[in-house]
Amino acid sequence: MNLPLRPRRNRQSASIRDLVRETVLTPGNLIYPLFLQEGSENTPISAMPGCQRWCLTDLVREAGEAHALGIPAVVLFPRIPDELKTRDAAECFNDEGLVPRAIRALKAAHPTLTVITDVALDPYNSDGHDGLVADGGQVLNDETVAVLCQQALCHARAGADIVAPSDMMDGRVAALRAALDAAGFQRVSIMSYTAKYASAYYGPFRGALDSAPKAGDKKTYQMDPANAREALREAALDEAEGADILMVKPAGPYLDIITRLRSATTLPIAAYQVSGEYLMIKAGAAAGWLDEDKVVLESLLGIRRAGADMILTYFAKKVAATL
Ligand code: PBG
Repeated sequence: MNLPLRPRRNRQSASIRDLVRETVLTPGNLIYPLFLQEGSENTPISAMPGCQRWCLTDLVREAGEAHALGIPAVVLFPRIPDELKTRDAAECFNDEGLVPRAIRALKAAHPTLTVITDVALDPYNSDGHDGLVADGGQVLNDETVAVLCQQALCHARAGADIVAPSDMMDGRVAALRAALDAAGFQRVSIMSYTAKYASAYYGPFRGALDSAPKAGDKKTYQMDPANAREALREAALDEAEGADILMVKPAGPYLDIITRLRSATTLPIAAYQVSGEYLMIKAGAAAGWLDEDKVVLESLLGIRRAGADMILTYFAKKVAATL
């Protein structure tokens, strides 16, 4: 057989495969999401095996271990005590609240670690929504954005490096940028949850923080999983409003969105491998059906190959240790 074109020549040895590899995954690509709570104890999260809600002391230790493995950044998710959850979510801008205390402790212990905070009202809101809820049940946009600005300023005062609005209100990136700049926080970056879909894959996360909506769903602000063009529109708006990094969430089921954003913007792109994606791999591995380490690496490589520069993943620390 005369067969001059043989792609297998480029796969014949480990060293040639190294040379032709198109995508790499390093600890420097990873962002480690961490749950935190009040008190001096850690609580394992049953729906996210291997994850804990950390007390402040152990949060600082865990973040330090991850940073020592080469992970540049953590993102914080607080479990706010029920008695502090209110309809106006005012605890979200309390300078002595759980998140600002955690930011100060992390920056004091690990000055080179980048600290990212989630900007949204759901952990603080007795209605469980990312925004303020009117008496009729609708989620208010502009009133919410004003509170998000106070929340972001509170995080900036505590020393946050990047604020990440995950609320999907209209106009919040421009408003956050203006509020941060007016207060002298030009150095604080905005990582916008640009294309955040109304996804069933967030289920385990909402269990971890008791943050599920008390009524209704999040479909009036999070995106319809059927839509891709709409993600391009959100990306154009976030870029025009001054976002520094755009995020797609979830990651695995939305690789096409990552790729489309990649060709539509020059901004860095983040992708969030969310709690349900984590749990599916964990469940498959626990049943003995999947090789966890290999599937995790492949899932993250796929997200990188699609065009993501950085990945938020609950596997970050474990993966960094194996890379
Ligand atoms: C809330 C927020 C959510 C996640 C991150 N920030 C949940 C939601 O929108 O209901 C989900 C993360 C995950 O599932 O891992 N603003």
